[in-house]
Amino acid sequence: MAIIIDGKKISTEIKDELKEKVASLNKDITLCVIQVGSDPASTIYVNNKKKACEYIGIKSLSYELPNETTEEELIGLVEELNNQPNVNGILVQLPLPKHINEDKIIQTIAPHKDVDGFHPENVGRLSIGQKGFVSCTPAGIVQLLKRYNIPIEGKECVVVGRSNIVGKPIAMLMLRENATVTVCHSRTKDLKEITKRADILIVAIGKPKFITKEYVKEGAVVIDVGIHRNEDNKLCGDVDFDDVIEKVSAITPVPGGVGPMTIAMLMHNCVESGIA
Ligand code: GUN
Repeated sequence: MAIIIDGKKISTEIKDELKEKVASLNKDITLCVIQVGSDPASTIYVNNKKKACEYIGIKSLSYELPNETTEEELIGLVEELNNQPNVNGILVQLPLPKHINEDKIIQTIAPHKDVDGFHPENVGRLSIGQKGFVSCTPAGIVQLLKRYNIPIEGKECVVVGRSNIVGKPIAMLMLRENATVTVCHSRTKDLKEITKRADILIVAIGKPKFITKEYVKEGAVVIDVGIHRNEDNKLCGDVDFDDVIEKVSAITPVPGGVGPMTIAMLMHNCVESGIA
């Protein structure tokens, strides 16, 4: 019987640990959340982040800017928040409207307030093993594996997807945990042959139910980062859960797997920033 990795439960565990830590601090921790425009999905994410702050006892300050906000105005706001000593974390919700260069905005955030772990300095630190903020979804995946006592060291880890937010940083993290890491992507030849080698298969490609049992080794641990709404309005991942379930030793469901961990790790980064 496969273990269904309960991300909801682990994320609550982490948030409760953080809540206790914050209560013992005797100081305020403040996260600034900036949203430009009113993309409905972004609004849901932002609200969930604010709710998590409230649960843990972190102050969240919301900046809801109109879609017409200029790049200069947004840079101005980020710089202002960089300079406020009481602000511990700055989060600019992505995607941004097309007229704003995301890279430029991310690079404006002070690295020590970049709780998303997107700034090139933090990305670089991760790749050379220095302390810094780690991107939240990848950090959440490692926490899930560790808290389920799934060994990483020496294991064959195959990552499918090479995005800056998930694929690349999870590859770096798994390497740091002493896994042997292969990164596959849309131009990879014989994808199945490679994914079938994986003891730990991490999938972040953005294609609903793409990974079927032909891609998976017997007894593999499968981590599904995808989230999609299918024809009958139900949520599903990049992995065909029902198809692979007979073959895997452990798997993250969608929803309730990796998803809730992202916010828990964001809260972790905020608390770390507040303590530093
Ligand atoms: N948009 C989708 N995911 C994220 C995230 O983790 N952080 C930010 N800032 N924007 C996002």
